[in-house]
Amino acid sequence: MQRRQFLAGLGALGVAGFVGAAEDSALRGPDVIFVPTPNDVVDTMLKMAGVTKNDTVYDLGCGDGRIVITAAQKYGARGVGIDIDPERVKEATANVKKARVADRVKIVRGDLFEADISAATVVTLYLLTDLNLKLRPKLWKDLNPGTRVVWHAFSMGDWKPERTADVQGSTVYLWRIPPRTA
Ligand SMILES: C[S@@+](CC[C@H](N)C(=O)[O-])C[C@H]1O[C@@H](n2cnc3c(N)ncnc32)[C@H](O)[C@@H]1O
Repeated sequence: MQRRQFLAGLGALGVAGFVGAAEDSALRGPDVIFVPTPNDVVDTMLKMAGVTKNDTVYDLGCGDGRIVITAAQKYGARGVGIDIDPERVKEATANVKKARVADRVKIVRGDLFEADISAATVVTLYLLTDLNLKLRPKLWKDLNPGTRVVWHAFSMGDWKPERTADVQGSTVYLWRIPPRTA
């Protein structure tokens, strides 16, 4: 990607945001449009985070739910996908059902900046740099030390990743919430 495609899609945001807001005045429209993470990149993200059946993976802005569904299917993890767009929530919920992982994966409509993410042991992100930067204080405050944060394509500012990998022209980054004393 996709960077160009992703940024070009932002032009559509005004319309998408308006529709979202009109349907539910309590929730605003998406901050970024839906562009799915390629499946190879999803696999790399989950592998890099070392996801196991003991993990609870939160995808903030879950789109069609592919990251949390794959985490449940391949690793037996629990998953929570959060998206503000009702169409994405409907699509992801249907995909969860189709993949037969509804016992482990929950899709929730909500604003990722407001959601309770404290139960996460792994957080996945595919957002723009400005959203990543806006989200950093929440990740730092709400997540337990040791929680892995995996994202791709866009920067997290001066958060120095523990590991990176290049896949399909995209860079995947792993970062870990440090001990509280740090
Ligand atoms: C680039 S897509 C990534 C989808 C998925 N995480 C993936 O990697 O395949 C970003 C998603 O974030 C959602 N989104 C944008 N702003 C949001 C917000 N404030 N709260 C929750 N979801 C949001 C969009 O609706 C979209 O589905």
